Amino acid sequence: AVPVSKKRRVADFQLSIASVTEDSSSDCLAPGLHLQAQKLAERLKCDAVVSEISAGPGTVNFTINRELLAKTVLQQVLKDGSEYGVKSELFSTVPKQKAVIEFSSPNIAKKFHIGHLRSTIVGNFIANLKVALGHEVIRMNYLGDWGMQFGLLGVGFQLFGNKEKLKTSPLQHLFEVYVQINKAAEDENTKKLAKDFFRKLEEHDEQTLSLWKQFRDFSIDEYIRIYKRLGVHFDEYSGESFYQEKSKEVLKMLENKGLLQKTIKGTGIVDLSEKKDLSSFSTVMRSDGTSLYITRDLAAAIDRMNKHNCDSMIYVTGKSQSNHFQHLFQILKLMGYDWVERCQHVSFGLVQGMKTRRGEVIFLEDVLNEVRSRMLQNMASAKTTKEIEDPMETAEKVGLAALIIQDFQGLLSSDYQFSWDRALQSRGDTGVFLQYTHARLHSLEQMHGNEQLTHINVACLQEPDAISVLQHLLRYDEVLYRSSQDLQPKHIVSYLLTLSHLAAVAHKTLPVKGSTPELAQARLCLFQAARSVLANGMKLLGITPRGCC
Ligand code: ARG
Repeated sequence: AVPVSKKRRVADFQLSIASVTEDSSSDCLAPGLHLQAQKLAERLKCDAVVSEISAGPGTVNFTINRELLAKTVLQQVLKDGSEYGVKSELFSTVPKQKAVIEFSSPNIAKKFHIGHLRSTIVGNFIANLKVALGHEVIRMNYLGDWGMQFGLLGVGFQLFGNKEKLKTSPLQHLFEVYVQINKAAEDENTKKLAKDFFRKLEEHDEQTLSLWKQFRDFSIDEYIRIYKRLGVHFDEYSGESFYQEKSKEVLKMLENKGLLQKTIKGTGIVDLSEKKDLSSFSTVMRSDGTSLYITRDLAAAIDRMNKHNCDSMIYVTGKSQSNHFQHLFQILKLMGYDWVERCQHVSFGLVQGMKTRRGEVIFLEDVLNEVRSRMLQNMASAKTTKEIEDPMETAEKVGLAALIIQDFQGLLSSDYQFSWDRALQSRGDTGVFLQYTHARLHSLEQMHGNEQLTHINVACLQEPDAISVLQHLLRYDEVLYRSSQDLQPKHIVSYLLTLSHLAAVAHKTLPVKGSTPELAQARLCLFQAARSVLANGMKLLGITPRGCC
């Protein structure tokens, strides 16, 4: 009675004699073990599943019936389509949950830096994965749309603003105004004006608020347009501004619970130390009684949980904010909110050295344009552009795949050095390679049509290169499972890269064109399955697989 999961029956496996006999001398492979393995192998019989049993040094090796492997895998992949892997028994006991995932969250009138880009693609990946696994997901963008900077921006707009530009290119215009006013803000008069503007905003003065609302609304419109290029959307645009009033309530609650302490300077703090000696604390109130970033986050978390009653609340930001989220969760816990256990900060490392030809990255659009133009140039020098229907669109999709794969290759927490050249290589472990493999497999289907599994003879798929692809396809659910557990995209990335390498090799060694119809059909079916899983995985990562290039 060897414990073998049902699935393992279609992949080769090895039984170590030491693991069965619990023989402690297994490390040095006692001659007895070898003999035992041989004896056991001789006594075991092949059946419909196991086609060969042999003895190795201390192991019994089972080779699985190749035809059964081909049939089982292809059937499953082609039948389940985009749900392949998701329907696996691995997920059958995982309850369906509701998750609020907050990501991207740029600050209006400020730079959209690489950290925001990373948050956008990581959050989108987590959301895609959860949705694919059948969970309910709310994608939330929590904008930096409040704070003293809006006082400055308001004054800046009165001095240098232009309503027309605000409408046509709000992000660029507000950024420029903000830079200009920051230079001017050195003088006391401007500072005072900015303070007055922000005070009026806090007092909900109609005119002031209406200008601020225009800043916000036009910016969101433009964000939506640019996120679309990335293939990202949000269900909710929230923001710090929503919690200005509610953070006053939070401060009251903290006070009522005896958690709010006043410092000599008049600021409000919460003691987070175990010994209550203030060795660790968080400032939640300015001396003038106004709220801070963390106060608004406290109000936002409480509101989110009240509104959505979710099973998990995920925040995706750089690791420079780890302290902030630790404090946030600690305060919520002190306030008695047990659901804080359901909150999670998914953090990621720094990306160094991302520059565009124009210089520093200021807007998300800069990155998208840069990747597109670099990719177009590469395509032109590879002389493939002519055959492509829409080179701009293709360059963008392939370039984005390159960015995403470079970013997702390592652990999210690690920092990495950004390189356009490395990301955009067409060979090796890049998103470009994934896209080209997908496109090649896709055009194979276009040329020869799709195959019905019932028509094929699986005995035609017995070459080692075909078996490698099939065995790899079989593992897809395990990879999804790993990523769903630790929310790291790298498992899926390395799986897809291997799949692409295996498929590229098989594509070379197992030609469709010029083969007998029976062989050609079986091979087409194999490639169709590989393409389907490749496309599924790419979509989870936030990549749009290219149909042709
Ligand atoms: N707007 C912030 C920034 O750019 C990120 C917001 C993160 N989310 C949060 N709930 N604090 O740094």
